[in-house]
Amino acid sequence: MKDRQEHLRSELDELGDTPPGIFRKQLHQLADWIADFRQNIGSLRVAPNDKPGAIRAQLPARAPEEGEPFEKILADVDRLIVPGMTHWSHPMFLGYFGWTTTAPGILGEILTAPLNVNAMTWRTCPAATELETVTIDWLRQWLGLPNEFGGVVYDTASVGIMHALAVAREEAAPSTRKLGLINRDLPPFRIYASDQAHSAAEKAAIALGLGEQNVQRVPVDAEFRMDVAVLREMIAQDREGGFQPLAVIATAGTTSSASVDPVPEIAKVCRENKAWLHIDAAYGGGFAMLPEYKWVREGWEMADSIVVNPHKTFFVPLDFSVLYVRDLQRLRRVFTLIPEVLRGDTIEGEKNYMDYGIQLGRRFRALKAWVIWRSLGRAGMVSRLREQIRLANLLASWIKIDRRFELAAPVNMGVVCFRFVAGIDHAVSGATTPATINGQLDKLNSEIVERINASGRAYLTQTKLCGRTVMRIGLGNVLTTEQHLRDAWEIIQKECSSIERVMVRP
Ligand SMILES: Cc1ncc(COP(=O)(O)O)c(C=O)c1O
Repeated sequence: MKDRQEHLRSELDELGDTPPGIFRKQLHQLADWIADFRQNIGSLRVAPNDKPGAIRAQLPARAPEEGEPFEKILADVDRLIVPGMTHWSHPMFLGYFGWTTTAPGILGEILTAPLNVNAMTWRTCPAATELETVTIDWLRQWLGLPNEFGGVVYDTASVGIMHALAVAREEAAPSTRKLGLINRDLPPFRIYASDQAHSAAEKAAIALGLGEQNVQRVPVDAEFRMDVAVLREMIAQDREGGFQPLAVIATAGTTSSASVDPVPEIAKVCRENKAWLHIDAAYGGGFAMLPEYKWVREGWEMADSIVVNPHKTFFVPLDFSVLYVRDLQRLRRVFTLIPEVLRGDTIEGEKNYMDYGIQLGRRFRALKAWVIWRSLGRAGMVSRLREQIRLANLLASWIKIDRRFELAAPVNMGVVCFRFVAGIDHAVSGATTPATINGQLDKLNSEIVERINASGRAYLTQTKLCGRTVMRIGLGNVLTTEQHLRDAWEIIQKECSSIERVMVRP
């Protein structure tokens, strides 16, 4: 009898969750693991130098039949996963826009895990819904947006842009939600974005049936800002050709060089042409909260929609992106759809965030934003953003005094683009025309980035500006200090010197 009871007990344990005592132990173990990882991250390689498939080759191709102990799983994270990662949180990770890992952000993510709710309607989690509304409004106030702007949290800016353009499409071609675009007497629509704008514009056009080629790229001026006179000409020409301007995307903080388009002038063009104005402030949004960067948000009040990525510049861990729409009902009208199964859980008059996009199930993302924003406060974020700008300008000052390099773009925010312009010995390389010299310099700049990243000591990215390959450093990580930046600059200089020697004496 006793044996049978014990057997039943162990079967129940197998069916249920980890027993509380064991779970508590595992949590403590994990807490120590996280604290150690965070403390020692600077001693790791920033990125592995393995060939594709190297990690997969060490993992079993089939899932385990029986459950495995957490200790074993955690040991495999140390053995297989951590060494196979590009560590975005590493202080020498200077790729993209730097990164947003912070201790409070990690706490926010951990807190979200046990709650694990689905924030699709108010009733499915009132606190998740209401906290989302509150955090979105805090952000709106920091951005100085009028309160006629309402927002919704998505995973990424790309998804936000797609939703914004879906509303633009519906307003330009009413009933598209119901009838689609086919077999209707509609003009072909066009979207305009600068040649520096993010490719999310094309992705949105693909998804919305507007056609990738109907995203027209507008040239930029010497500081990589949209040339509004050319925008006007392009729209006028398109109108003559039977196209209808649907939307203009202005960028505040472009991906390559963090340039800022002249929004007030673009807004005027949009008004004249009854085109939707979308502002992509995925990166620049954070800086717009600084009083001295008020210029970044000039004209935003005239926008129809604005995307801001707090996972880029508001210290929120990936993913967290906010789309603001002037009168959020415009977005709701396009996407509200209540399946019968949810009708009972949909309280009229309450905000049900499933109505504001194609996603039904939604994570409780607002919690981590709330934790980090309360932990740092506005002042804490402002001072950290200012430090990013200070470091970016410091690096620019070093670049300016080393004659082998040139700055490739003005430094606006936490991004520095520069190019190694020495290293080509004309007599040795045979390069004689500016085009061949530039071509060789492109290869060289690309190779320097590749070599540094392969060394595991620092990580940077490359991009093209004015058709030329340049190196690019993004500062956004709270662990990156002035000393780290000095080290990175030294690594870059040494790599360039060694390449230079090889080029001169092959
Ligand atoms: C200006 C800009 N817009 C949009 C995006 C796309 O962001 P997400 O990865 O959140 O879709 C990026 C990404 O770097 C960006 O730099």
